[in-house]
Amino acid sequence: MSYVKSALLDEKGYVILDRYDQAADPQEWLDLQYVDWKSSGDTRFAPLASANGEIEVNGFWNSTPPRTDKDGVWIPSQVEKAPHLVERATEPGANVGRCRVIELQPNDYTETLYNLHQDDNNRLNPDESGWIVRGFFNLTDDPESFIVLREDRFDPSSEIRLALPAGAQIIVDTQRFWHAVWHQGSAPRYCLITSWECGPALDDYIQKHHGSSEHQNAHLAPEVIAEAQASVQRRLAERAASLAFPGSSD
Ligand SMILES: [Fe+2]
Repeated sequence: MSYVKSALLDEKGYVILDRYDQAADPQEWLDLQYVDWKSSGDTRFAPLASANGEIEVNGFWNSTPPRTDKDGVWIPSQVEKAPHLVERATEPGANVGRCRVIELQPNDYTETLYNLHQDDNNRLNPDESGWIVRGFFNLTDDPESFIVLREDRFDPSSEIRLALPAGAQIIVDTQRFWHAVWHQGSAPRYCLITSWECGPALDDYIQKHHGSSEHQNAHLAPEVIAEAQASVQRRLAERAASLAFPGSSD
């Protein structure tokens, strides 16, 4: 399959844009309607655009007819509560698929590594169309929290940790990276996540906001990483064993 990809995104798989002045906007995300949807942690989601314009957050490939993560239908009752968020999601002019605010409760680094996953945004995406990537706009101020990316799920040396202060704007190829968020706050973290199709419009947007893949990880002690890594391996082994012998622990 051959897809249209953004050169900058394709090089490292993520791009950091200029910080947005989040404090200047109202906290629209607090007014939205959320649905319980567990995804990589203790989460809820408030959809702004969904497969059929209803308040639901399922992948578009589970809708009827099944389709890829494009042509999201805006949900009027949510859009009217969050005009700034909609404006930001539509600013690139790229095709928008799912657009949602995620609410994530605090977790720890071990939990984050356990939650690492790859998205499936490009399922059913026709050959030669634009690759689907995700924009992450952090809404709450979580400077001690990170989106954790790994090319290889079990290789800490491939790990990238991007900090999430208010107004952080990051675009990630979430089908390429194993990813999850390490949220160290005491209150929930809110983030606008938008699926965009790569192409000239997204390229122009990245350029306009000075997209860059230059990044240096903040220090994290190697023993913390090693301990979390070992704990995840144990948990995965226990899970595999319980799936192989269901009920054996009863
Ligand atoms: Fe994801």
